[in-house]
Amino acid sequence: MNKRNSQKPNQKPSRELDQKLDKRKSDHISLCTDQTLQIEGGETLFSSMRFLHRSLPEINTEDIDIKCDFLGHQLSAPLLISCMTGGSEEGYHLNKILAKAAQQRGLAVGTGSLRILLAKPEVTHHFRLKNLAPDVPVIGNIGAVQLPELFSDDMAGLRQFYRILQDLKVDALAIHLNPGQELFQNEGDRNFSGLLDHIERLCAWSELPIIAKETGAGMGPSETAALLNAGVAYVDVAGAGGTNWMTVEALRNSGAQARGGADSISADFSDWGIPSAVATLLAVGTAGELRPGSPAVISSGGLRTPLDFAKAIATGAALAGAALPFIRRAQDGGLDACLEYIDEVIKGIKTAMLLTASANLEHFRKTPLLFDARLQQQLDAVQATAKLVQIGRAEDHAEDHAEDSLLSSKKFRRYPIHKRRHLLSSGHGLNLDTDELAATSHSPEMLELADAMVESAVGFMPVPLGVAQNFLMDGREIQIPMATEEPSVIAAANYAAGIISRNGGFSTTAGEPLMSSHIYLKPQSPPSDPERREIMNVINKSENDIRALLRPVLQGMEDRGGGLAGIDIRWLEKTGVYRVELIIDVCDAMGANILNSAAETAVPFLEQISGTEKLMAVLSNQAERRIAGASFAIPFPALHRGNYSGKKMAGRIVMLNHIAMEDPARAVTHNKGIMNGINALAMATANDSRAVEAAAHAWAARDGSYRSLSKYKIENGLLKGSLELPLALGTVGGATNFHPAARMSLKILKGESQQTLEGKTLARIGAALGLAQNFAALSALAGEGIQKGHMKLHSSRLAFGAGARAGEIPKLAHRIQENGRYNLKEARRLLSELRGGEN
Ligand code: MEV
Repeated sequence: MNKRNSQKPNQKPSRELDQKLDKRKSDHISLCTDQTLQIEGGETLFSSMRFLHRSLPEINTEDIDIKCDFLGHQLSAPLLISCMTGGSEEGYHLNKILAKAAQQRGLAVGTGSLRILLAKPEVTHHFRLKNLAPDVPVIGNIGAVQLPELFSDDMAGLRQFYRILQDLKVDALAIHLNPGQELFQNEGDRNFSGLLDHIERLCAWSELPIIAKETGAGMGPSETAALLNAGVAYVDVAGAGGTNWMTVEALRNSGAQARGGADSISADFSDWGIPSAVATLLAVGTAGELRPGSPAVISSGGLRTPLDFAKAIATGAALAGAALPFIRRAQDGGLDACLEYIDEVIKGIKTAMLLTASANLEHFRKTPLLFDARLQQQLDAVQATAKLVQIGRAEDHAEDHAEDSLLSSKKFRRYPIHKRRHLLSSGHGLNLDTDELAATSHSPEMLELADAMVESAVGFMPVPLGVAQNFLMDGREIQIPMATEEPSVIAAANYAAGIISRNGGFSTTAGEPLMSSHIYLKPQSPPSDPERREIMNVINKSENDIRALLRPVLQGMEDRGGGLAGIDIRWLEKTGVYRVELIIDVCDAMGANILNSAAETAVPFLEQISGTEKLMAVLSNQAERRIAGASFAIPFPALHRGNYSGKKMAGRIVMLNHIAMEDPARAVTHNKGIMNGINALAMATANDSRAVEAAAHAWAARDGSYRSLSKYKIENGLLKGSLELPLALGTVGGATNFHPAARMSLKILKGESQQTLEGKTLARIGAALGLAQNFAALSALAGEGIQKGHMKLHSSRLAFGAGARAGEIPKLAHRIQENGRYNLKEARRLLSELRGGEN
């Protein structure tokens, strides 16, 4: 820690430090507002960027909307008055004007560094911008170099600082990065190591959103990525082309204001940094990959003209910010001058929006931008360096590189999801393309959800979600959501639902949602027959004690009419252990958590009364008491297909069923077809599809031979089909209620009434869907075969794979079917023919 850092934040500061901070603050203002001095250096390169003019904007100027959300507030325009002051009388005066301007125009406003308040709380009022700007976001500010000290002493300084932030009622905290400025300050910090780690720790700890901001030298794509991965809410690139703090500090040190110039070394650095336009464009690109769909970049640094601000927004930035032009106007002409400037900037933005046919900011952020060679060259050059730049401590990188492969890295699962995705996308031989990245993440919220749902999440696997329509079930018509990657599944369900629903529909049943949880108990020594009977008797008689013991776990279930329904005990002869079964009515849940909790809760009591030792306690997925069923009866004429009469079809379907009863090899595929439907419903509703599958197949083999789950017979000119199987499907609990896609599926199932959907009803729907799927497969197999239909559906996928899009897909699919050759090469040839023919 350097000498300055040894000053404890909560110690009374020395008078000397007070005076130094005071003096520095007022020097900054006087130097920055002295227009005879050249404190702005370099070029932003926004002048190298042009808009594509649109002669037919087709927008009414009055309809242009530049409102946006920022830090939980709605701003009237995407602008930030990024203050750099406070802590001196002059600074206080300016802060008041800037805060009032922000409030009056509905813009975000930031304070200068609040570090002074740790040493000099009596100037806290200089930073109470919230009193003057209650309706807009106010951003506090502190240097990254202060973080190590704030985190020291068990975070005493940080806690004190957050009390100040709370008192100031700020909406976010900006952490400024200013290594250049510090180096040119005689009393500046010199140790910049470990700052990223501290920012990451702060992001994890802070309830306030953290904004990382440069201070006029711009941020490269590697820094942007590192900071976003560390968890900052926004990065403010503050690029070169505006106030150069190295020049300001050099002027201050040398007293050069009086002489009208700085020393030669600072002159050398007067245009240091990444131009704002370059930094913004690259940061927007990086943030777009890491946080698709939510602008996370603030563009600033040398924005002066209204068109500069417009261009900064059009790059894709969330906000455009500036400090100096506001401060100069506040000093020269007070609040009115500030407001006048803001109005000009807003007018400029709206003008550019109209002339680029952008009715709102979302459109404006996508408007084409034209770059001249200079800007393009710099963009390419800075972009190319991104992979070469290492951020963080050298040891960390050594460790990273020591890992043979990223996916096997031990650190991988500890990273935040954005960082995992970034690491996957940046090299490591995976060469992920933009489609791959976009397809696996829908939005930042969904990525957070993925991270909350599973370990080491890197995104979502989006399987198509479709709807099988018009299932007439017990006199009610329902629509069924299905998530499946197999093209023929929903089409088959629709086909079967059509025939069955036109002929009376499905009748369905569902048993009580009784599930079992098992506790396996090992006796201390092999019991004699009487001993065994005695222990089983003791356990059987303790049902009421177990019920009382489980009450805290099962209370919720009992309130809903469920809970412990009984117990059972068996002796497993070969293993020599007792199996205690808790039979629990899980109501509308799938029930896994409650079942496992109940079993584990009962263990100590059972061990004690039986003098045994627990081997394991876990639910059983067998679910054999939770049986759902569906059946239909179709008159022969409705079964007619191709060359086969309805009667013949009925006979053939029954024969196919017999085969699946006798031959396990066929039964596996037959039942797989049934599960095509049930599994798709389980996936759509975020139920545990593996549990459902396991139970179904166990049921199919319950008499010792694996058989068809469905049954078909002919009676009185009708083909009667039925299906019965255990179905542990829940409509509450698990991921069903918090996964938004599952919530949508439940809404589809509930239909217009949106009445509660019982777990039992979902099981009945599952049984009907499984039977429909099976009937469709058997009809095709007994008739013309399945391949014709499958290939028809496959043709759309081939068309997509060949490059067809939108309206081209059905046209190309049709041509593929006509041509009859189902391969990609042929599909591509037909596509170019299709395109050529139409051009
Ligand atoms: C394909 O996913 C399912 C079928 O193979 C089922 C069956 O053969 O019964 C068509």
